[in-house]
Amino acid sequence: MRILVTGGAGYVGSVTVERLLAAGHGVIVVDDLSTGHRAAVPPEATYVDLRYGDVHAMTRAFVEERVDAVLHCGAKSIVPESVADPALYYHENVIGGIGLLDAMVAAGVRRLVLSSTAAVYGLPDIVPIPEDAPLRPINPYGATKASLESAIRWYGVAYGIRSVRLRYFNVAGASDRNGEMHDPESHLIPLVLAALEGGRPVTIFGDDYPTPDGTCIRDYIHVLDLADAHLAALEATAPEDARTGPPDGSEPVALNLGTSDGYSVRAVLAAAERVTGTPVPHRVGPRRAGDPPVLVADARLAGAVLGWRAMRTDLDAIVGSAWEWRRRHPDGYRV
Ligand SMILES: NC(=O)c1ccc[n+]([C@@H]2O[C@H](COP(=O)([O-])OP(=O)(O)OC[C@H]3O[C@@H](n4cnc5c(N)ncnc54)[C@H](O)[C@@H]3O)[C@@H](O)[C@H]2O)c1
Repeated sequence: MRILVTGGAGYVGSVTVERLLAAGHGVIVVDDLSTGHRAAVPPEATYVDLRYGDVHAMTRAFVEERVDAVLHCGAKSIVPESVADPALYYHENVIGGIGLLDAMVAAGVRRLVLSSTAAVYGLPDIVPIPEDAPLRPINPYGATKASLESAIRWYGVAYGIRSVRLRYFNVAGASDRNGEMHDPESHLIPLVLAALEGGRPVTIFGDDYPTPDGTCIRDYIHVLDLADAHLAALEATAPEDARTGPPDGSEPVALNLGTSDGYSVRAVLAAAERVTGTPVPHRVGPRRAGDPPVLVADARLAGAVLGWRAMRTDLDAIVGSAWEWRRRHPDGYRV
């Protein structure tokens, strides 16, 4: 297959690109490098400096590169930024996303996998969260992803785009080549590792939650497991593959990607201390608004549909791979 990956210079995208190349697929990365890194794109992939919402340029790229399927990883994805600037999130994630869909329709590309997020669920009634839980996002980031999911569903019904929407929980870890390097960083594990490298102490937002150690529990999924799931999902969008519904794209699939298990904030700090042998500088602050005590995926459907499950679930190994990557790339992607 020839697969166009939007956001392929970002964290999840770049590791997935490695996996797709290793499986023998041709890869075209479209990325505007707004939060990604040119050096994260492996030389075996074709890189195109484009905004994925540019309908005309994307239509041309689909045709010229003879694209069979799209993995849409590109997005703005920082929750506090989305609250401060919802316009940016609606323009990029929704309007840009519709532009990408329009270009797919124009060029006759009918296979799509979307990087969606657990943020579409908001504050869940049931944990582990099943895919049929109501979508009640509590921030513009989650709302824009839910909007794009909904558009994809109707584009499937009307224009025959066969899709899988993958709702990730907390992605972590690294491949040998690529790791997590965001600026600003908002994810716990890189913040913990940065604190160990002499950066700002970590703040634990609340230690009085109804959990065993009082801190919030989240579902951490290794980025290599996520990459495996993307490969399986892309292959499952083949028209003759009944796993993604009827050939006309009228019943798209949404799948949670997590481990169905969770680790607390304090457990992450303890793992980092075991891995590095150094205490993590930290302080305890007040709870953050909208932080549920436990957010864990019910990931059984991904197992049933794709035959996939997370294999790299040991927290020390996840944190260890992130630490190892940072140790080998002390300047991140700067050369
Ligand atoms: N990292 C996580 O824990 C996590 C969790 C849930 C969902 N997700 C989703 O996974 C996807 C990837 O996340 P990530 O952590 O790798 O983010 P990232 O910021 O590292 O990667 C996003 C990439 O998209 C590119 N991009 C953004 N807007 C673009 C545009 N208009 N045109 C072209 N390229 C553009 C950026 O330059 C960047 O390379 C996102 O869609 C995000 O919502 C991530």
